[in-house]
Amino acid sequence: MSILRDKSLAPQGFKKIQWVREHMPVLRELEKVLGRTRFFSGQKIAICLHLEAKTAYMALVLKEAGAKVAITGSNPLSTQDDVVAALHREGVEVYAWHNSSPREYEEHLYKTAGTEPQLIIDDGGDLVSLLHRKFKNHLSFINGGAEETTTGLIRLRAMEKQGDLAFPMMAVNDARCKFLFDNRYGTGQSVWDGIMRSTNLIIAGKSVVVLGYGWCGKGVAMRAKGLGAQVFVCEVDPVKALEAHMDGFKVAPLLETASRGDIFVTVTGCNQVITREHMQVMKDQAILANAGHFDIEIDKAALQELAGVPKKVRRGVDAYHFPDGRRIYLLGEGRLVNLAVADGHPAEIMDMSFGLQILALKYLLENRGKLGHRVHLLPAVLDEEVARLKLKSLGIGIDDLSIAQKRYLESWEIN
Ligand code: ADE
Repeated sequence: MSILRDKSLAPQGFKKIQWVREHMPVLRELEKVLGRTRFFSGQKIAICLHLEAKTAYMALVLKEAGAKVAITGSNPLSTQDDVVAALHREGVEVYAWHNSSPREYEEHLYKTAGTEPQLIIDDGGDLVSLLHRKFKNHLSFINGGAEETTTGLIRLRAMEKQGDLAFPMMAVNDARCKFLFDNRYGTGQSVWDGIMRSTNLIIAGKSVVVLGYGWCGKGVAMRAKGLGAQVFVCEVDPVKALEAHMDGFKVAPLLETASRGDIFVTVTGCNQVITREHMQVMKDQAILANAGHFDIEIDKAALQELAGVPKKVRRGVDAYHFPDGRRIYLLGEGRLVNLAVADGHPAEIMDMSFGLQILALKYLLENRGKLGHRVHLLPAVLDEEVARLKLKSLGIGIDDLSIAQKRYLESWEIN
């Protein structure tokens, strides 16, 4: 019942899944423990995530734990057809192919939403939004869902505020084991992986402009510095701007840095960040990359208006030729550069994010009917469980508080 491009790619996709499995000890442990009791038996789980090997392994863990799983991709360019084929072969319902058109993307999402799920995993909010718009009769059967990203949570909180959220959603993105590692170290590494793979150019000595200094922006800026770039940060939040300054970056408005940057990376979650006025003053051969969830941060329409239809000059690199002779290179069509032209975050990082996803679903099921139709933070114990499993796999021990220390921390009288 799946929709996929080429079933014969399954062996190649399965090899990718086996590779990441070896580097995801938290998921392996959950596979063992939840598989033993078939914890998710009888549950249908619908997933909308970047459909690459780490995501596929998580889907297989959920299947091993007894769930019936249906999955689609959360971005047309991040879906890998060989991984899709492997999942189909392993008995997961898959609706996705690489480079789907907007209509196909919507159709695949629709098919996934139509599997009558009781649990949801979403990345960016597309699946939850579609369920609320087009599957109203099914909403009361949903036990809840878990959201992976900052962007998805912004949409969910807007739904909650308007009283429109029809089931509880767990804010996986806001768990410490998510944003401290995935957003910072995951994005920090995978964005540069994408930029370096697609351009094959040196970062050292270049001027890099990072737009947005949230946890993802912090990671991108930190790694750019480590690679030897001169790093500028642009921010709208005065506190984050100050933080970037104290972290040692040059902070300035984008209009000032636009003519100085060699590489621009948008990580804001907002739209219309790099616009016509910036493009008009950029250097010849400036490189533009986006690491925000949607391809709305770089104004692609303005690029086309100014420079016409681009030429594909390398895999993942479109060259826009301006009438004055300048060229601007857009990576991955302005979609998430780390997933459109690379493989996403490292396996060891997604191990924690997806460990949290599974524990969030487990929590939803254990608390079925008790949670309000709100966006819920993950209980700290789940965060700690993932951290402990990770530390154990790394062979790292930590200390325990003594009884006297615990007493001290709980008291306001002892000093
Ligand atoms: N791989 C799967 N999901 C991902 C995400 N949200 N970010 C980076 N890599 C991923």
